[in-house]
Amino acid sequence: MTAPALRPGLMIAPSILSADFARLGDEVRAIEANGADWVHVDVMDGHFVPNITIGPNVVAAIRPHVTTVMDVHLMIAPADPYLEAFAEAGSDIITVHAEAGPHLDRSLARIRELGCRAGVSLTPSTPPAAIEYVLDRLDLILVMSVNPGFGGQSFLHSQLPKIRALRAMIGDRDIRLEIDGGVTPETAPLCVAAGADALVAGSAVFRGGTPEAYRANIAAIRSACA
Ligand code: DX5
Ligand code: ZN
Repeated sequence: MTAPALRPGLMIAPSILSADFARLGDEVRAIEANGADWVHVDVMDGHFVPNITIGPNVVAAIRPHVTTVMDVHLMIAPADPYLEAFAEAGSDIITVHAEAGPHLDRSLARIRELGCRAGVSLTPSTPPAAIEYVLDRLDLILVMSVNPGFGGQSFLHSQLPKIRALRAMIGDRDIRLEIDGGVTPETAPLCVAAGADALVAGSAVFRGGTPEAYRANIAAIRSACA
């Protein structure tokens, strides 16, 4: 089975890294009921990045609560041995890092073979050229606007020209361009102006800790970009 097509338009993808981990099902339902377009899931291994979060079992446990798109961002190396487990856990999009393994082309082909949408992420120091020859294997490009590993860091403005370059590189291909890290109502419009059409936000969405706060936080990001 192939994951559903990704609809066009500006997608807001709250990162559950900033959610209450003891209540993940409730938190996912709360963001979806209050304006989230996708649910962004950050998987960290304590090796590729200096933090450990969750694995495929937790992703599978969240899955029944997600009615939108489960956007799974793998910050793990190697990623290939775990792709099948994350596909079976119900990921719609699986994103691997270009820096996480020597055979990016193979990893991306495998993600699609497993029935998921294929994404690649670039850390702040990786140039757009790293993915020039895999564009036709991609459904999503994820630009990291912080060094991956932790929520709540400051947006790196150095990534705006990279977003512009990638938007030009994408041309008329059906590829979403997502930005992740330090996205707030202040930085989101800069990302959209540079060509991003999907915004990950963790602390800026979950700040306040209530469904009412999530609604206001998501609306603030969306209206800043309008
Ligand atoms: C960082 C993660 C991000 C992060 C975003 O490694 O990939 O998704 O949680 O958090 P904020 O929006 O707080 O920067
Ligand atoms: Zn992420």
